[in-house]
Amino acid sequence: MKEQLNGIQASAEKELATAQSIQELENLRVKYLGKKGELTSVLRGMGALSAEERPVIGQLANEVRVFIESRLDKAVKDLAGKERTLKLKQEIIDITMPGKKANFGRRHPLTQVVDEIKEVFLGMGYQIAEGPEVELDYFNFEAMNIPKNHPSRDVQDTFYIDDNVVLRTHTSPVQARVMKSQNPPIRVICPGRVYRSDEVDATHSPVFHQVEGLVVDKGVTMGDLVGTLQVFAKVLFGENTKIRLRPHHFPFTEPSAEVDVSCWGCGGSGCRICKGEGWVEILGAGMVSPKVLRECGIDPNVYSGFAFGLGVERVAMARFNIDDMRLFTENDVRFLKQF
Ligand code: PHE
Repeated sequence: MKEQLNGIQASAEKELATAQSIQELENLRVKYLGKKGELTSVLRGMGALSAEERPVIGQLANEVRVFIESRLDKAVKDLAGKERTLKLKQEIIDITMPGKKANFGRRHPLTQVVDEIKEVFLGMGYQIAEGPEVELDYFNFEAMNIPKNHPSRDVQDTFYIDDNVVLRTHTSPVQARVMKSQNPPIRVICPGRVYRSDEVDATHSPVFHQVEGLVVDKGVTMGDLVGTLQVFAKVLFGENTKIRLRPHHFPFTEPSAEVDVSCWGCGGSGCRICKGEGWVEILGAGMVSPKVLRECGIDPNVYSGFAFGLGVERVAMARFNIDDMRLFTENDVRFLKQF
């Protein structure tokens, strides 16, 4: 029995030393120490031993069990450590490897300009108003004091849906819609798309964008208009920007003006951007005609107002030094990426 026990210890020692996985060690634990294990079956035979032999063999059996247990524990620890190290090695992250580059989108230059304009006027307490792009002739022309025989009603300028419906040729019809639905004080801007049947070239497109502005209140003067546009021009084109009003005619404003900003390229001395003029035209403006106020249900003897309409493409071309309007709609990423 003694030899048997020594044999068990020796073979357990050998097997434990070569075990490759935790699972294998677990199998060995069952093989040697389990209920049906080798050691247990030896101990079962102890009843046949003499009274002198029994304690000796009992002690030896105990030593063998302790030996196997301690070897097992050590082997489990060693293997667990090895497996952990291996796992760490496999999962190592090379932080010096170049990352995947994320491609960020950006706002279209026209959107950027409209957003900036909105911000300036929201900051001055304006609200944003909207109107339909497919507009009634009444709002686009009639309510804006543009009579039936006016040249801008010509089919060469206007897309007609039918006799009474057009694609709006400017954002000014939103003025009429706002005045008819709101009481003064009114302070709105209306950004949006407008349509004119122009041939496409570097400075013309049948679809473009405007931002309309309208203020109606008691005692609104031309001075308010000039001051407002001055603030706007400085924010968009820089602190040193000046504005200039040239007399003009619009059927819906009286008096009317075309408004220029001093050239951001040369500061007014003349350069390629302003074609030597020193000034660049960006918008039309004026005091809302009493006829328009009356047509929209506002008493011109009590209220006055100013309005302006600016071309977004024109401002964006100015701001970003873009010389061809077609670039805005060609969707060439190489172009769009620059802004
Ligand atoms: N609606 C005019 C245009 O499209 C611009 C404008 C708006 C002029 C408001 C004066 C007042 O040219």
